[in-house]
Amino acid sequence: MEVIISDSSKDASMRAARLIAKTVKEKPDAALGLATGGTPLELYRALIAMHKSDGLDFSKVRTFNLDEYIGLPETHEHSYHFFMHENFFKHVNVKPANIHIPNGLAKNVERFCFEYEAQIKAAGGIDVQVLGIGSDGHIGFNEPTSSMASRTRIKTLTPATIEDNARFFNGDKTLVPPHVITMGIGTIMDARTIVMLAFGSNKADAVAKMIEGPITAMVPASALQMHERTKCFTDLPAASKLGHAEYYKWVYSRKPDWQKDS
Ligand code: PGA
Repeated sequence: MEVIISDSSKDASMRAARLIAKTVKEKPDAALGLATGGTPLELYRALIAMHKSDGLDFSKVRTFNLDEYIGLPETHEHSYHFFMHENFFKHVNVKPANIHIPNGLAKNVERFCFEYEAQIKAAGGIDVQVLGIGSDGHIGFNEPTSSMASRTRIKTLTPATIEDNARFFNGDKTLVPPHVITMGIGTIMDARTIVMLAFGSNKADAVAKMIEGPITAMVPASALQMHERTKCFTDLPAASKLGHAEYYKWVYSRKPDWQKDS
């Protein structure tokens, strides 16, 4: 795993945005795996700015979101459909037909999940998957003890995640839906490149376990140690518990410029 520690989440997000922009320029119909939550907001803002000022073209890009709450309609202000529309899609030129987000109202969830996997496969697989990390080490909504080989499926959130996400529901944890559809760890691991973003001191423990701890289903993000091309972009607080932070900075500072955004 490549660890890139930036002075701020804004700098880290800009670095991640440059990598995604490079992918889209090289492969205009790239399949992007997208994430929600507080973490990717600056990344989306940077990509929107690149679209508006430099003409970064998303017209052929296909997108696949990681997860969605079960029971929330697309129009619900806390659904991930709504989040993606408000924070990214309505500001760029991704075609609605190319947008894929798990359907939280699917009548047959198992069948929906099977078809979602098939759609990712039919798109040729995901080129770049954006991820955040939960304070409990989850990726997507793959909570601790999720199978490392899991595919898209229904999951029940842990009390810790419900607590973390209550801030999006006016602080009321009783409003957070307990069930979600999420890509599995196996689905995520199939992406060709993974862009992990982790910001803030409340992620420091999970980041240290993900990068320097043992690979264990108790920390789903630690599966990324087995991924061929994962880039982990952190700010200083999220990197504060890494034992080898100085080493990661030393490695990055000695990279040739051409390698930094690729
Ligand atoms: P956050 O969530 O970006 O809102 O911190 C990250 C995650 O739970 O994956």
